[in-house]
Amino acid sequence: MSANKNGDGGWTSFIWNSEKREFLGRTGCSWLKIFIFYVIFYGCLAGIFIGTIQAMLLTLSNYKPKYQDRVAPPGLSHSPQSEKTEISFTIGDASTYDQYVRHINQLLSAYEKELQANNSQFEDCGDQPSTYKPRGELESDYGMRKACRFNKNLLGDCKEGKYGFDDGTPCIIVKLNRIVNFMPRPPTNDSLPEAARPNFQGNLIPIHCTSKREEEAENLGPVEYYGMGAGFPLQYYPYYGKLLQPQYLQPLVAIKFKNITKNFEMRVECKVFGENIYYSEKDRSQGRFDIKFTIKSS
Ligand SMILES: *[C@@H]1O[C@H](CO)[C@@H](O)[C@H](O)[C@H]1NC(C)=O
Ligand SMILES: *[C@@H]1O[C@H](CO)[C@@H](O)[C@H](O)[C@H]1NC(C)=O
Ligand SMILES: *[C@@H]1O[C@H](CO)[C@@H](O)[C@H](O)[C@H]1NC(C)=O
Repeated sequence: MSANKNGDGGWTSFIWNSEKREFLGRTGCSWLKIFIFYVIFYGCLAGIFIGTIQAMLLTLSNYKPKYQDRVAPPGLSHSPQSEKTEISFTIGDASTYDQYVRHINQLLSAYEKELQANNSQFEDCGDQPSTYKPRGELESDYGMRKACRFNKNLLGDCKEGKYGFDDGTPCIIVKLNRIVNFMPRPPTNDSLPEAARPNFQGNLIPIHCTSKREEEAENLGPVEYYGMGAGFPLQYYPYYGKLLQPQYLQPLVAIKFKNITKNFEMRVECKVFGENIYYSEKDRSQGRFDIKFTIKSS
């Protein structure tokens, strides 16, 4: 009996012992000391945490990624992009190529002349390939940098309309992915395939498309390149990044396949050439891409 009574009294008096003025077995003064201890303890932890983050941020640049090795060689992307990079359509049946036309329309809408009108954001960089156009160090105080205009009319037969899909001579539009501070170097003459040499005039990263399988080369037919030369002109480099050059436009190249054999699965490989442009077996979009055309005659 008495044990039971003691047990009950033990619980309530543990929570609040009015005799000793203790709450949960400690006096107010003791609780205050514990509280102060933990405030200081966690304060120090937070201080160390913030300190290390700050120290790490100091070593980062606002303008340039610290580690760029994974993306250093530029990828090549193209429009229209489709599943398995397969472009398949029927001449004269708009519903089979509408999606491709829309994809290109969307890409080119960023290149409208009106969007490049502001002279404090854009400048003319000529209509022939010329050398790099540096605009000061990344970290200097110049602030925002201008970007070169890119005139859509350079894309010739691929600048508007159905981009050749309606008559079986499709265009694709190609760009080299942006890499901050990257200066692509043109190829020395002999790394360039024989067939691409006539188009090459220096100050340019040339692009060239061939049949993926040599034995199908004659099915590819003539290929026409439009843009500022058949490639990416050097005056559009270096790129200063989203912060300093938000309006930057990549130069475009349009490639028109003028007589691909109809009703045939044509595999094409397009490649850019440059001294610091590499290809990888793992990443097939690095410096090149594959595309498969099936053009059905109506
Ligand atoms: C041109 O660009 C500058 C800088 O971005 C901006 O301050 C200015 O308002 C723009 N002018 C026009 C007419 O949009
Ligand atoms: C590359 O070679 C061709 C002739 O084979 C020549 O006309 C052209 O000027 C050369 N280009 C460069 C950049 O050396
Ligand atoms: C397209 O290629 C075929 C052979 O594959 C040829 O008979 C035809 O004349 C070519 N058309 C044009 C316009 O070059």
